[in-house]
Amino acid sequence: MLDIRNIVILTGAGISAESGIATFRGPGGLWEGHRVEDVCTPEALARNPALVHRFYDERRAALAGVAANPAHDALARLDREWHGELLIVTQNVDDLHERAGAHRLVHMHGELRSALCGACGVRETWTGALPPESECPNCGTCALRPDIVFFGEMPYHMERIEAAIAAADLFVSIGTSGAVYPAAGFVQMADACGADTLELNLERSAGSGLFADSRLGAASVLVPEWVERLLAAQSTQSSPMSR
Ligand code: APR
Repeated sequence: MLDIRNIVILTGAGISAESGIATFRGPGGLWEGHRVEDVCTPEALARNPALVHRFYDERRAALAGVAANPAHDALARLDREWHGELLIVTQNVDDLHERAGAHRLVHMHGELRSALCGACGVRETWTGALPPESECPNCGTCALRPDIVFFGEMPYHMERIEAAIAAADLFVSIGTSGAVYPAAGFVQMADACGADTLELNLERSAGSGLFADSRLGAASVLVPEWVERLLAAQSTQSSPMSR
């Protein structure tokens, strides 16, 4: 049995699916009817800013009609009650983890409710539409874009994430297909650093075989069960905890 104190949790689109937010690799491999290359690359933004901005405006507006589900709630509870180190690394650009109350959280692929100025680099909380001609409140340049990490761009918070994985006793991946790097490589990094590894997903992901354990099912069921078990073990902790 492994003594668990430090936990890193990677979440993907699957954790928000039951809240009504479409996953990326849905039927036909399209994301809300678009090819990823048409809406999620720097080239797409340069070629057709109106399309890219409108696409993220629609995603941002859709946030008003969704709510956190029991999986987000369970992770927020774990964040509140876990005595050891914990970091939730989400690939999601929705804000459902924070709406559920999670604090020890980083968005590695950016956030819908944020705008980034391509000229001065400032970030602004943004809840409404973001037309391409929007002026940056800081420098006045019309260079605001959705604060989304496009394919080919460096994900955010990598130093903090890698440090947390290096110190982790347990790495858990929830609701992600394991198709996109560097996130898809975190399980190998965690394993190499001596952490136990667990996958909670609807189906086996691309890297499923890299995890020590894989539990299949809906996040809204699996995650609350797993959190309950972990916190119960913590509360009786005179002996080592298991995952
Ligand atoms: N519970 C658990 N898992 C689920 C559920 C659910 N209710 N519904 C779907 N899943 C699983 C799917 O089986 C799939 O393995 O969630 C995974 C979602 O995979 P993707 O759609 O590929 O999403 P994700 O892994 O988050 O994508 C990674 O790709 O396009 C980029 O930047 C984008 O952050 C995104 C990245």
